[in-house]
Amino acid sequence: MRNLFKYHLLKGDCEIMADRIKTGISGFDDLIKGGLVINSINLVTGGPGSGKSIFSLAYLYAGASKFQEKGLYITFDENVDDLRKDAAEFGWDFGDLEKKGLIRFVYIHPYESEINQRIESEVMTFSPQRIVVDSISTLSMSFADAYEVRKELYKLAFFFKKAAATTFLTSEMLSEKDVFSRYGVEEFVSDSVFSFHYGGFGGPGDRTVRIIKMRRSDHEDGPIPFKITKKGISFSKEASKIKL
Ligand SMILES: Nc1ncnc2c1ncn2[C@@H]1O[C@H](COP(=O)(O)OP(=O)(O)OP(=O)(O)O)[C@@H](O)[C@H]1O
Ligand SMILES: [Mg+2]
Repeated sequence: MRNLFKYHLLKGDCEIMADRIKTGISGFDDLIKGGLVINSINLVTGGPGSGKSIFSLAYLYAGASKFQEKGLYITFDENVDDLRKDAAEFGWDFGDLEKKGLIRFVYIHPYESEINQRIESEVMTFSPQRIVVDSISTLSMSFADAYEVRKELYKLAFFFKKAAATTFLTSEMLSEKDVFSRYGVEEFVSDSVFSFHYGGFGGPGDRTVRIIKMRRSDHEDGPIPFKITKKGISFSKEASKIKL
């Protein structure tokens, strides 16, 4: 199944048209007018346990299993076996997709030298349509200061776009209001920011996502409820209508 469509929006005199891909994640595409802008950089930010890695795994799993799109998951945090185990909890068989050459997991130690070159070489070798970097907060620890973080993240974002991939960068969110990333620069290299929140008390409004920005696009703002259960992750504007 081919996963590319044009989104056409007229706003006053302004016409917005962009090639899009569906994420394939239950309920999420309805929040972003059908899908992500192709070749965009999307920041997935939130506190610990807010669902960033599960959302990112769902993005690659849906891409490979529904649309045969190749997905590369670069992890600086969890090791690859743990990620496979996390996914297996939801019935997502990444092993099979890895054997078919549709998915590749790569663990990189944050203090390895020449990290950007390593990432670029993984991308050039595998040629994925979907990329996840989890997390750029840990990746950024390897850079000397805020100036280096900004410079290296810009270079990486530019490279991912040139590689014709649509990318998720996960980022740890600090607790201050309206600070979406550890270094305060991550949101500026990104075309979109999806901010995940978790109250930790249970109940329908306990997990929510806000769509803070999405360049070249209209979108829901939020907070929009979502659920993580043993069947996966699913979103709906009305908590009672979440399909899981
Ligand atoms: N089978 C499940 N059913 C319900 N909730 C689950 C299930 N598996 C995981 N979770 C929830 O998902 C959370 C983990 O989500 P995830 O690993 O995506 O978070 P994260 O934002 O990546 O966290 P971190 O910043 O620590 O990497 C768990 O803390 C738990 O609340
Ligand atoms: Mg995580």
